[in-house]
Amino acid sequence: MKGILLAGGAGTRLHPLTLATSKQLLPVFDKPLIYYPLSALMLAGVREVLLITTPHDQAGFRRLFGDGSALGLDIAYAVQERPEGIAQALLIGRTFVNGGRCALALGDNLLYGDALGAVLQQARARETGATVFAYWVKDPERYGVVEFDAAGRPVRLVEKPEAPRSNWAVTGLYFYDEDAAEIAAGLVPSARGELEITDLNAEYLRRGRLHVEKLGRGYAWLDAGTPVSLLQASVFVQTIQERQGLQIACLEEIAYRMGFIDEEQLLRLAHGLRSTELGTYLRRIVRQDREEAP
Ligand code: DAU
Repeated sequence: MKGILLAGGAGTRLHPLTLATSKQLLPVFDKPLIYYPLSALMLAGVREVLLITTPHDQAGFRRLFGDGSALGLDIAYAVQERPEGIAQALLIGRTFVNGGRCALALGDNLLYGDALGAVLQQARARETGATVFAYWVKDPERYGVVEFDAAGRPVRLVEKPEAPRSNWAVTGLYFYDEDAAEIAAGLVPSARGELEITDLNAEYLRRGRLHVEKLGRGYAWLDAGTPVSLLQASVFVQTIQERQGLQIACLEEIAYRMGFIDEEQLLRLAHGLRSTELGTYLRRIVRQDREEAP
């Protein structure tokens, strides 16, 4: 399965922070924001990724990732000229996906939780329909919202409802079957002039092919769209990492554990990072793995 990582948008709610750089390149504690959704794609087992950026920010992402091969990935790049909606990513990525299934991740979403890898791989394995993830929030009016019937089946999806009928927000990570691009091509722009991802998901729901996976209280879902939420995400990552001595969204570690790179490649990455705590961390992983091997 291929992945699309959407990292365009104007980031206006973060001005002046985003006047000179992309929002998705801003730091969340010790890593650029984009690392977090990319880590979700990698945990799902996705290795081929199309990274969509604004025209002027692409160079920064290329400097960061290159072709992705150091992480055992294959990263291609495309441009979204104007932020005309999240669902447009499926049209921009149509040739790249080439009629197959795909995962779409928003470049500003952070998902964290113990069983996340298993949940994502399950979604990836589903051959038909779409899978989205719902997360209970206090302020659902800021998001796409899903309503369930008494039997727990999804019945309605609404983008930023004024009076939400549920607290379940739809997160920015979506898994689609082969039909997504065609459905996206049939969407009409909303009142705010965007091809809405919620309209696309609503079409899957209408066809009886939307799978909504609830992520319960053991998960964290953060977006980093405002200065406060960016700071909160940083503090969250720092708190967990310092307590456990384990990294969140460490792409080098995930690439190694997923088998995208081998021990030698990981040690090479660690060497390049030898003046950082991350470099020490990566060397420690290899050492511990060797010690714990039966
Ligand atoms: O974060 C999850 C929410 O993301 C969902 O619950 C909503 O259903 C979905 O519409 C979206 O809502 P937002 O209001 O957060 O969307 P926003 O316009 O902020 O865009 C989310 C990210 O996608 C942001 O980092 C910028 C990027 N983006 C957005 C648009 C509209 C693009 O790269 N291109 C675009 O055209």
